[in-house]
Amino acid sequence: MSDKKESNKMEKIVGWAKRRGFVFPSSEIYGGFGAVYDFGPYGVELAKNIKENWWKVMVQENENIIGLDSSIFMHPKVWEASGHVSGFSDPLAECKQCHSRLRVDHLLEDIGVFADEKMSDEEINKLLDENRDEIKCPKCGTKGQFSKAKSFNLLVKSNLGNFTEDWNKEPAYLRGETCQGIYINFKNVLDSTRQKIPFGIAQIGKAFRNEITARQFIFRKREFEQMEFQYFVHPNEAMKSYEEWRERRWQYYLDLGIKEENLKWHKHENLVFYAKAAWDIDYNFPFGFKELEGIHYRTDYDLTQHSKFSGKDLSYRNPQTNEKYIPHILEASVGVDRTFLAVITDAYTEEKLEDGNKRVMMKFPKKLAPIKVAISPLLKNKPELVTKAREIYNSLKSQYMCEFDDNGNIGKRYRRQDEIGTPYCLTVDFETLENDTVTIRDRDTMVQERVKVEKLEEFLKNKLK
Ligand code: GAP
Repeated sequence: MSDKKESNKMEKIVGWAKRRGFVFPSSEIYGGFGAVYDFGPYGVELAKNIKENWWKVMVQENENIIGLDSSIFMHPKVWEASGHVSGFSDPLAECKQCHSRLRVDHLLEDIGVFADEKMSDEEINKLLDENRDEIKCPKCGTKGQFSKAKSFNLLVKSNLGNFTEDWNKEPAYLRGETCQGIYINFKNVLDSTRQKIPFGIAQIGKAFRNEITARQFIFRKREFEQMEFQYFVHPNEAMKSYEEWRERRWQYYLDLGIKEENLKWHKHENLVFYAKAAWDIDYNFPFGFKELEGIHYRTDYDLTQHSKFSGKDLSYRNPQTNEKYIPHILEASVGVDRTFLAVITDAYTEEKLEDGNKRVMMKFPKKLAPIKVAISPLLKNKPELVTKAREIYNSLKSQYMCEFDDNGNIGKRYRRQDEIGTPYCLTVDFETLENDTVTIRDRDTMVQERVKVEKLEEFLKNKLK
């Protein structure tokens, strides 16, 4: 796809997401708030379905994986131990022409040069200098006019529990990733459950980062949600288990309904010093293949660091062999928002109509569709049809997310439901009053079937299972 077409698709998706109640810019009536977004009425349903599906696959279906919901606020030492206070930063440079602050690693990436996450300011400046003439400011287009790069810490500070004037010196941070809450609860989980190594802890929750570049819609937000999974293993088993998890996580996206041609593995060549392996699953977003999920083998780094900083022994003793060791950690971490963006990009389809106009159709996998069934009376001014349609809506709403829709004519209702990806539209018409059947229209085939009202539950159960 050409650059123009790609940005066009992104613009269309952003427009659709707002128009159809999926994603709104935050605080819009005040002019917006950079890189913060709100999920609208259908967006919240889609995000909920994404999270529920992840939880089912990761926690419910695995005997040795349990859930956790740790707090957003943690002891400030957590972020020292994790390395975030000293090293969780992005390299920033300013365009001398338009004064935009830009991420140097992104500028380099745009010309095919990849910087190591842990590079010092000196190293990143060397790379910047070597490539300076080729790099163009994405805002104003000027080439080669950049200040020196400087690291900018991404942790978001707060004054929680600190009532002094200079709280900024010892701030409590809003968590920059959810997994630290898992590491610091490792012992609690072990002591309160019957888990033995290998076992995993999964968590879904908000994370906050002072991201510099507010770009690419919900791909990079300042407040976002992560679905993180940490698997605790014996060091000798780690690499084999890592490969198994890589396969499982790939399969997870196929089972979610993501098109395989839109997924790609990306191997990290420059590993951080404690990691033994790191792969990302990239998705083909409208702006190209970018990280959707990171699957990393983090060795014993996290538990060792927290043992050191807290003074608490976080090692594990094998109850059978009595062997004592610090477990190694395999991590699979993905954003709810990035999954959301991948799912809507995958589902977004335009169809040409006979009159030359285009219509948008969201081909969501059925399990993710925000509304499963729309129920309509053929005519809204015929009380007998409305009453019957309401009766059906009331009988289905406790099982499925349904919508009662009597606005406009039936063609418009189908179009509206296609635009939000509703798999089934059910219509009560005059034949319903005669033989107690309704028409059910399938979003993907557009085939309409007549189904007995008493068989509706069974029909939908088969179709939506
Ligand atoms: N615990 C590891 C960790 O946080 P990460 O690569 O920084 O690693 C993991 O983040 C995942 O979280 C990413 O693959 C992405 O899906 C999501 N993510 C990270 N930063 C994000 C942001 N600013 N906005 C939305 N999602 C983000």
